[in-house]
Amino acid sequence: MTRGSLLVDHIGELVTNDGRDGDPLGIRRDAALLVEDGQVAWIGSARYAPAADRRIDAGGAAVLPGFVDSHAHLVFAGDRAAEFAARMAGERYTGGGIRTTVGATRAASDGDLRATVGRLRAEMLRQGTTTVEIKSGYGLTVADEARSLRIAAEFTEDTTFLGAHVVPAEYADRPDDYVGMVCGPMLAAAAPYARWIDVFCERGAFDADHARAILACGQAAGLGVRLHANQLGPGPGVRLGVELGAASVDHCTHLTDADVDALAGSETVATLLPGAEFSTRSPYPDARRLLDAGVTVALATDCNPGSSYTSSMPFCVALAVREMRMTPAEAVWAATAGGAAALRRTDVGRLTPGARADLIILDAPSHLHLAYRPGVPLIRQVLHNGVPR
Ligand code: NIG
Ligand code: FE
Repeated sequence: MTRGSLLVDHIGELVTNDGRDGDPLGIRRDAALLVEDGQVAWIGSARYAPAADRRIDAGGAAVLPGFVDSHAHLVFAGDRAAEFAARMAGERYTGGGIRTTVGATRAASDGDLRATVGRLRAEMLRQGTTTVEIKSGYGLTVADEARSLRIAAEFTEDTTFLGAHVVPAEYADRPDDYVGMVCGPMLAAAAPYARWIDVFCERGAFDADHARAILACGQAAGLGVRLHANQLGPGPGVRLGVELGAASVDHCTHLTDADVDALAGSETVATLLPGAEFSTRSPYPDARRLLDAGVTVALATDCNPGSSYTSSMPFCVALAVREMRMTPAEAVWAATAGGAAALRRTDVGRLTPGARADLIILDAPSHLHLAYRPGVPLIRQVLHNGVPR
């Protein structure tokens, strides 16, 4: 017995994501899992479970890796409920509301921003999310982008510099100057707090030339590349991301065959964000087409006050199954191992020896229930770094 060890026993269905035997979820029945030093130390049959200091009886329930939400915009102030109401009454989403949130974020104190990130992070944890990526992108000045990332870094290792979210109003007639500023002083101030760089590559935001220039500067500063691409219409974003070796291209709502082929021949993950289509009443991306082409697919919330104000990965799993033709197994994999792949992490998104002991005990016997019982709070308990929350 190791001091501080914890055994999770009587697991009816253990999702490991070990990819063995042609089953991507690597399901084991009647299993147990031992946690030591915040990591998975052992998994096996409940019959052979070792002794431990403490024990949690899962009572036959399903246990799965904590969700990895690889795309979230949590550093902001205010909300845009009225914009949502207008959309539900027929208005189209254009991304124009981003500037409203930029104004509110610039006016907010550090304490207010920190409190919002903390509230949303806690909301996520209660819903099973143990790893989250957090973007800047609502500051759009050197100081406001740097403080957004500084605050984000208090909550996660996966921080993303999104100074190229939109061109702010004060640069509206000089976008080249804004791009120069993003690549120069803004990147210099942001890079110490960022692991990734992202650009909203879309008509009305940044075109392929600007996106390429910004991402190249980010790479030269040591940041990994991710991209908002092909959300509102077809465009060059997905192919640019593949060309630059992006870890992930996100949204992928409007894809041509050439986009799908490029993704299929690459290491770039396609991250789908069905909360955005739900909240903007837009057609969903075709996950089936991507999966059938052999593309690695992740699911994430895109949590932000404009296009997708949900922090719930279970909700995204249910949408992906019902609206995007993913099987429940594919959706659960995409929300765990897929998110880890999108963040190029091997320590999360799986429950195998050596992985971080981030796990969910469901109030249900199977992962299927996440889609089968939409909207039901099925997260009975979460362990984060081996610590019950
Ligand atoms: O991922 N598309 C760009 N950015 C966000 C939306 C931001 C907003 O509307 O405030 C997104 O959907
Ligand atoms: Fe986004």
